[in-house]
Amino acid sequence: MSAGLRSKDPILDPYRFDPKTNTKLRNWFLKEKRDLPFRKNRTPYSTWVSEIMLQQTRVAAMLPLYEKFMQRFPTPEELANAEEEEVLRYWQGLGYYSRAKNLHLGVKKLVHEFGGKFPKTLEEVLSLPGVGPYTARAILSISYNLPFAVLDGNAKRVLSRLVLFQESGSKADPKLQKIADSFLNTEFPGDHNEAVMELGARVCIPKPLCNECPLQIDCEANKAGLQESIPPIEKKKKEIPLNIRFYLLHTENGFLLLRYPERRFFKTIYSLPFGFEGKNPYESDPVLDWDLKANDL
Ligand code: ADE
Repeated sequence: MSAGLRSKDPILDPYRFDPKTNTKLRNWFLKEKRDLPFRKNRTPYSTWVSEIMLQQTRVAAMLPLYEKFMQRFPTPEELANAEEEEVLRYWQGLGYYSRAKNLHLGVKKLVHEFGGKFPKTLEEVLSLPGVGPYTARAILSISYNLPFAVLDGNAKRVLSRLVLFQESGSKADPKLQKIADSFLNTEFPGDHNEAVMELGARVCIPKPLCNECPLQIDCEANKAGLQESIPPIEKKKKEIPLNIRFYLLHTENGFLLLRYPERRFFKTIYSLPFGFEGKNPYESDPVLDWDLKANDL
């Protein structure tokens, strides 16, 4: 039997999977999984840190920073007690600093409101700053082995191909979550989630390596020869071209750097002041309205 019995609307009639499909997937994962430092000690806290770092950052780039971060902040208490500036220093190289700020806030809440003990219900976990549905499900399944299926970009591609699901974009997410829930191996939810994501990262990539895939014969997209066109490419949002100019403003004491949350870009990190040129839809930094004496601009 194939991976899924397809219906027109998976919300009304969820996909059903052959349990052998996810046994094959788990066996592949146990044999092929990468030996990664964040897979060694899987406390909810260490999973939280690694999953946040892995959002928008590749495994190879996050590994050295993950190890340094965990050496400096080995427990939630240590992170909660640190100054934000220091936490941000340990985030240097990962970018998207709001992730670090929210992680810091979330861990403070964990320590002060949950006594440092990571909760076990989705509702409580989602109340922690910076923890969205993906992170909550990843932590609960990987560290507590609770039956929650995750859906990241890689998982969406794997699942869509497996059952020949031909929608994409945020409207498709609730349906894909149903598909993920139906496919979940409830005996080993943590391994299962990591296996789906790992397959998506290494085999079921945009140009898929179907000959290396443990689920090749179960895959509806492969059977139909449509694996490369699933998921369908989303229409690009209209781009607004923008020219940005940074200004070097200095006295003998040094250069001016700004950080304030009201601006459109660089809300949370220091930057040189900047303004926009050409067709200008945004406000410039207010310091550029000061009556400044330019030397060689
Ligand atoms: N991508 C994000 N988190 C992952 C994990 N734990 N394993 C494999 N791929 C991932």
